[in-house]
Amino acid sequence: MSFTAIILAAGKGTRMNSALPKPLHRVGGHAMLAWSMDTARLAGAERIVTVLAPGSEDIQEWLDGAPFAIQEDQLGTGNAVAAARDAVGHEDGVAIVMFADTPLVSADSLKHLAKGVEAGAGIVVVGFRPDDPSGYGRLVEDADGIISRIVEDKECSPAERAIGLCNGGIMAVSRSSLFTWLDRVTNDNAKSEYYLTDIIAIAHADGATVRHVVIDETEVMGVNDRRDLAVAEAALQARLRQTAMESGVTMIAPETVFLSADAVIERDVVIEPHVVIGAGCHIGEGSIIHAFSHLEGARLGTCCVIGPYARLRPGTEAADGVKIGNFVEVKKARLGDGAKANHLTYLGDAEIGAGANVGAGTITCNYDGFGKYKTLIGEGAFIGSNSALVAPVNIGAGAIIGAGSTITSDVEPDSIAVERGDTRNKPGGAARFRSLKSKAKQRGT
Ligand code: UD1
Ligand code: MG
Repeated sequence: MSFTAIILAAGKGTRMNSALPKPLHRVGGHAMLAWSMDTARLAGAERIVTVLAPGSEDIQEWLDGAPFAIQEDQLGTGNAVAAARDAVGHEDGVAIVMFADTPLVSADSLKHLAKGVEAGAGIVVVGFRPDDPSGYGRLVEDADGIISRIVEDKECSPAERAIGLCNGGIMAVSRSSLFTWLDRVTNDNAKSEYYLTDIIAIAHADGATVRHVVIDETEVMGVNDRRDLAVAEAALQARLRQTAMESGVTMIAPETVFLSADAVIERDVVIEPHVVIGAGCHIGEGSIIHAFSHLEGARLGTCCVIGPYARLRPGTEAADGVKIGNFVEVKKARLGDGAKANHLTYLGDAEIGAGANVGAGTITCNYDGFGKYKTLIGEGAFIGSNSALVAPVNIGAGAIIGAGSTITSDVEPDSIAVERGDTRNKPGGAARFRSLKSKAKQRGT
């Protein structure tokens, strides 16, 4: 299966009320345009042309060399597809028109559309039956149940407005006919726009077969404002959680867990409530992510125990059986098998050997306001609580750091380093102090 995808992304996106172009708003951690492109690729698109408005440098930069066409004026969806004419060509084959604000369409649906055109249809459109059809174009069937035209909401007669079958926006068209049909579209309508949807009546009049496939509403929901964005996110999250649970992940309160679409979560992982798994995470088999933890760019081996309230930032790499506990922040740090940092710690730009134990309140002082420096902690080392490890610094394997130490130079393997004042103990001192203070208070001094 191969086709050319034309992704329309030149609309103004006014209702997003945003400095960021609408196609770059994210759903499940990915730009909506990335969803459209990835899905097209997954369905077998051999070429993807994105249609952009002039001045869309942000999106062009994001496209990073991928083909695009410019629609000079936003004169409607038909005019937008026409702008892709040179980039798409008239050869035989299938073109699929997609919208950059419809991120949840599935690759299977695209394949289904493309197959319809390969099997001889001139156009295959996506139909759906929303609870509230207002705003959508309606698919109008002739006496034989064949779609003869699409009428936009603004142009509907009362009888047409009552039609429940709506246009999902996505359509597959025979590439050799697409642009000749588009040439015949006029802007004689309520919005004075060139409607892509008008090619259905033109194709039908030419005797071409127009078919439709009905798909689930969630696949074609369009994102026009922030509320739609939240609805799309919720639908995607529901899908991601379901896939994770089907593949053997336990979620105690799935509706409170947020997953980036690229998360890899192995079997028998348990995710407690209120956890966010951001982009670039891999969680190994049997690990537990306790409540209120936030992970991004973290790779965990098997049977790790994370949180509650842990923050794993990009570059966290934990081997097997690692424990990272409450209020621990980890960034660009590798922890060997069974290493532990159970409480109130910051580990940044660090390598921590297998079996090392990092005590509560330990801080790797990795930044001096100018550069970042590394802390190396050897296998089996024990870092006492409330230690500051001033990088660059190397704590040897099996070394012990006394609690409260500020370590500024390397520590040999198996040695003990303590850097703090000795405790001065004055027997009876507390009683003398209290008696002096209470007498002074009575005198009023
Ligand atoms: C469109 C369909 C409607 C369908 C609905 C489904 C047309 C005329 N109408 O309406 O039948 O029910 O989608 O969501 O096609 N765009 C451009 N250039 C333009 C205008 C739009 O690139 O000049 C892009 C937009 O960025 C967007 C897409 O085309 O990605 C759809 O445009 P939009 O204005 O949202 O169309 P609807 O009115 O929703
Ligand atoms: Mg729309």
